[in-house]
Amino acid sequence: MPTEMISWSEKTRESGQTIGLVPTMGYFHEGHLCLMRQAAERSDRVVVSLFVNPIQFCQGEDLHRYPRDFDRDRKLAEQEGVDLLFAPAVEEMYLPGAATRVLVAGISDRLCGKSRPGHFEGVTTVVAKLFNLIRPHCAVFGQKDFQQLALIRKMTRDLNWNIEIIGHPIVREADGLAMSSRNSYLSGEERRSALYLSQAINHARKSVGRGLTDPVVLMEELQDLAGSFPGVAVEYINFVDRENLEDVGVVVPGTILALAAKVGRTRLIDNALIFENC
Ligand code: PAJ
Repeated sequence: MPTEMISWSEKTRESGQTIGLVPTMGYFHEGHLCLMRQAAERSDRVVVSLFVNPIQFCQGEDLHRYPRDFDRDRKLAEQEGVDLLFAPAVEEMYLPGAATRVLVAGISDRLCGKSRPGHFEGVTTVVAKLFNLIRPHCAVFGQKDFQQLALIRKMTRDLNWNIEIIGHPIVREADGLAMSSRNSYLSGEERRSALYLSQAINHARKSVGRGLTDPVVLMEELQDLAGSFPGVAVEYINFVDRENLEDVGVVVPGTILALAAKVGRTRLIDNALIFENC
């Protein structure tokens, strides 16, 4: 299958057509579909990869129960006009003895990288492999995983790939919850508590609007707010610079509020530019 992928990509490039890639782990929701539409606007042919990448899951995480529904995903991709759904088997992607990893030093260890050691190395390794197999002209990633997006931009620049990395805004449910394949794990009560993340963003925006710009005080407020949402355990609340992902001393335009919390057993993330409404 990877060899077929390489020859499809070679033929497509030879015919002068451009290729847009959307890497995914499947169980599509509207967020994934929006990425596919953006790729279609930016390129002649769209490839969606569907691969639940084992090396980006840490010990004890949800690799084996990660939601999967290949037939439904295939239909949805077809409806979106996707030209090729690349869904390799694990043994095809990682040949016996495969030992090479791609690591973006520094920012891989912060935020989500702190509680998920090795996670981002797994992400950058698989995305590097997908870039080599598919050789896209552009690739679309969601801003929901803004640390992942930042790492992929850096990796692409550092490794001299001529691939345009496009960030797509977060797609949300009507009540504000950021869409995620993992939302399917939530019980009714957990689904209500999951609103903590988007409501924390709204809360922080209001406080900042009132002139509060000290991240420490804002973090305390958001930590207190979590107490009103049963079953929520905050993992991190950080105010970071949108460019380098470093913590800021004062909240200014360009500051991102990044959050991770467990709702029951389910780990959810969200983020937003604090001076922008979306
Ligand atoms: P997955 O979680 O399936 O997400 C695939 C892409 O969809 C990612 O770029 C992610 O940021 C984007 N996405 C998810 N939810 C979104 C939302 N609510 N709004 C906008 N975009 C959203 O992220 C991964 O897979 C993997 O780490 C992958 C990059 C495929 C590497 O294995």
